[in-house]
Order: sequence, then structure tokens, then C-alpha cells
Amino acid sequence: MTSRDRIQSLFRSQPGEYISGEKISDLLQISRAAVWKQVKVLREEGFKIEAKHSLGYRLLATPDRLVASDIETELNCRLIGQKVISFTETDSTNVQARRIAEEGGIEGTVVVADQQIAGRGRLGRRWESPAGVNLYCSILLRPQIPVQQAPQLTFLSAVTVVETLKDVCQLSAEVKWPNDILVNGAKISGLLNEMSAETEQIHFVILGVGINLNMTANQFPDGLNYPATSVLLETGKSVDRLVFLRAFLQRLDLYYAEFLQEGFAPIRGRWENLCKLINVQVEVDQGSHRYCGTVVGLDVDGALRLQLNNGKVERILAGDIRPTEEIK
Ligand code: BTN
Repeated sequence: MTSRDRIQSLFRSQPGEYISGEKISDLLQISRAAVWKQVKVLREEGFKIEAKHSLGYRLLATPDRLVASDIETELNCRLIGQKVISFTETDSTNVQARRIAEEGGIEGTVVVADQQIAGRGRLGRRWESPAGVNLYCSILLRPQIPVQQAPQLTFLSAVTVVETLKDVCQLSAEVKWPNDILVNGAKISGLLNEMSAETEQIHFVILGVGINLNMTANQFPDGLNYPATSVLLETGKSVDRLVFLRAFLQRLDLYYAEFLQEGFAPIRGRWENLCKLINVQVEVDQGSHRYCGTVVGLDVDGALRLQLNNGKVERILAGDIRPTEEIK
């Protein structure tokens, strides 16, 4: 850790308390002048640090920026976040995570960005990623599981997002097959999981997660072809992105460990509980084909199990799904 990071973590460990320059200089084994220099650096980054003669320094506020050292400091994870890489601006965290994976990056590496200038959505769409308001993050995993089971990780990230929204923001969201997360019918989060594999072996999986936290109405682009929302718009309260990200990564760490030990069943159960369309009559539009039936659950590979009106259960691998009856 650099002197800057060590001073920052010292301040964070004693929030609101004065720490004398002498004590900092003793603990960090640097001169008083070097302490002052690092305090200046932190202030320039947006930290509000008060300096009082005879008392020392105290931290009053931290900037709302996602910086790797801050994320790592209080992260209580086994595997996820062993390494965190943060960008003020990047093309896409998924692109960066893929590059890192190809260069041999370790499992659990987390890539975050304050802003993405080429944020990627599903089906070649763009993911709107303005600076300083949302969460854009990608997690590198190297699971030793059969290639066909990789889509199960999408459901794992979906459950983690919904439960973190509930826990940190007291906001109830639902999952929509295959990988949307909605609040009152509007999209609040999107997942883009990408994989590199051979026939029998997964090299790596990138879990790409975008969550609209503090985005205001005018930051959504005109002409979106689906309704979209953010935590701020739904609750009227802004979210501390660092607190949210840590909670998200910690939950992901637990669920990923459980997944490796126990398989898909626990995640599948949670996902089905968060899906409002289980036991509901729906229509699935695949462009060239349309199915009508009742959603009965998820299959082991993440396919949607749809009971058709003739009783047969069809496995749906792609398509747009919409309820044809009122949801209770
Ligand atoms: C979707 O279309 O619903 C998926 C959106 C996924 C967006 C996230 S933001 C972090 C990561 N980096 C990207 O470029 N995309 C994903």
C-alpha cells in the first residue's frame, strides 16, 4: 500500500476522530512533512479533512468515487475482490475484464469504472453509463464446471443484485427471464455475462453488472425501447455507491462459494421466488414462433420451463416473455 492509501485507511478506521500528525507519522514511518503532503493529495481527490492545531487531522467526508483501494479495504470476501481494478473512465468494464482474464488475471478480480464510454448491453445494444452515478462492474470467474452450466451464473448474479437492492436500498425488484431486473416494470439493472471456453472446459466467465443507482430522469437517453429507472427515481434517496458495491460483492462471494459446493439448486430456488411469472400464463415471442403457456420454473441450464396448454413442458431458450393474465 502507498502512504496515501495507508493514511486513507487510517482515517477510515477512526471516522470523525482526530489523529495527530505525530501519530500518523509514527504509524506510517514517514516524516510529518510527508503526512501533510499526503493529506493535500487526499484533499485534492475530494476528501474533506479538517486540520486543527494541537489535535491533528480528522476525516469529515469522502468523495463519491469508486477507487480500488477503498473497495478492497473493508471488503469481507473469500474470493471475489481479491484484486480490484478501478477506472475513472473506460470503454467497457467487460472489455477490460476480458483483457485481464486473457493476460492470466486471478479468479475473483473485480473491474469497476466511474464511467463507461462504450458500455455494452445485450444483443449488441449500448448500455448508458454516465459518470459518477451508477455501478458498472465486471467480475472475472474461472469455475470448474461443465460449459453448459455457465448460464447458471447469470441467475446467480441476478439474485445477488435483487437481494442487495432490498438489503441496502429497501427496494423490491423482480427478475425477468432471462436476465433483466425490474422495479415496477422498469429496468433497473442489466447483466451481460461473457465466456471463453473450449468444448469441454471453461477458461473464464465475465459477470458484467450494470445497476442504475443515482441516475436522474434526464440522464436516460431518448428513444430507449424499454422503460428504465434507478434507485434514486424509485426511492427519492441517493445511494452510497461504495457501500452498495461492497454489499453486492460480499453477497456474490457467498453465493458463488455455495454454488461451487452445492450446485445450481439453491440459486434456482431463490430466482424462482423472485420471479413474478412463476405459475402465470405468458406468451413467449421468438420472432418466427410464439408459445403460450404457464411458466413452471427454470431448467438446470437456465432454460425457461413452459407448460403448454396441451400439458407438454417446453424448454424455452430465447425470446421475449410477457404475461397474458393479471399477476397476483
Ligand atoms: C443488458 O443489456 O441488459 C446488459 C447490460 C450490462 C451492462 C453492464 S455495465 C458493466 C458491464 N460492462 C459493460 O460494458 N456491460 C456490462
